[in-house]
Amino acid sequence: MPEPAAAPAAPALGGGTPPKLELRELYISYADRKGHSVQAVEGVNLTVANKPGVGELAVLLGPSGCGKSTILKAICGLLRQDSGEVLIDGQPVFGTGRDRGMVFQSYTSFAWRTVRKNVEYGLELQGIPAKQRKEEALRIVEQVGLKDFAAALPKQLSGGMKQRVAIARTLVNKPRVVLMDEPFGALDPQTRWGMQALILDVLRKQDNTVVFVTHDISEAVFLADVIFVLSHRPARVLHRIEVPYFEERDPKLKQSAEFKRLENHLLELLHALQVQGNVQVGL
Ligand SMILES: Nc1ncnc2c1ncn2[C@@H]1O[C@H](COP(=O)(O)OP(=O)(O)OP(=O)(O)O)[C@@H](O)[C@H]1O
Ligand SMILES: [Mg+2]
Repeated sequence: MPEPAAAPAAPALGGGTPPKLELRELYISYADRKGHSVQAVEGVNLTVANKPGVGELAVLLGPSGCGKSTILKAICGLLRQDSGEVLIDGQPVFGTGRDRGMVFQSYTSFAWRTVRKNVEYGLELQGIPAKQRKEEALRIVEQVGLKDFAAALPKQLSGGMKQRVAIARTLVNKPRVVLMDEPFGALDPQTRWGMQALILDVLRKQDNTVVFVTHDISEAVFLADVIFVLSHRPARVLHRIEVPYFEERDPKLKQSAEFKRLENHLLELLHALQVQGNVQVGL
């Protein structure tokens, strides 16, 4: 795949700060086992605003296999695009960097390290002293509800607990851009609500930008400032939906008329996509 050409810094929007994240005409393909090219992402353009002091959360919604994880990996720098650009703060990024952190769709932790030591890993790489590392790791381990398991090994944890270790491992590094790939998929509703509240809290305090993949419409509306609805593979952006600013994001919000209206709107959009998908596969 060709190295994407370096580009000048993006022009500031309306003279203000450039978007926190911008994808410009992103094309990504894979080679299948026979060496044929499979187009996963096709001309994706999207921007996530920079809201200093509050952060912003963008959700990617779209059918299974459409290219959501592929887009997150490209932003993280784990995959090189065929063409197009990923810009953070108006600057093109190449490869991985400490400014971005990813929570993967499948659990990722070191089997031989305890929960606390797993969470400390990124801080070790940054050369942070042991005492501070331990304190910061324990704080976030407690926030994800695993205080009593700080000394446990991953094999002693359930799937949902492992996923929370992965979330803690990423958040402890305070990345400016957090990429979360269906991070709460394995959690029961109560734990999931707790983790949603944690993300909103971290976002506000750390001022990060989060790109979040979920199949859960209610979760999308609850967390997002902006939602991008993607097409079937190859992923293209079909709709960009601004979620109104909700002063208090608490569980009561889900009962409000405005929340339900947005949920229904998204359901209709996804239903239309499903009908289109059934036609594609000849059902
Ligand atoms: N390493 C790979 N090699 C070849 N093809 C791949 C690879 N990873 C993904 N693909 C293909 O790219 C397409 C998009 O995959 P991707 O994982 O991005 O989908 P997704 O939207 O995240 O799906 P899901 O919601 O099921 O997680 C799929 O058709 C998949 O088969
Ligand atoms: Mg995926």
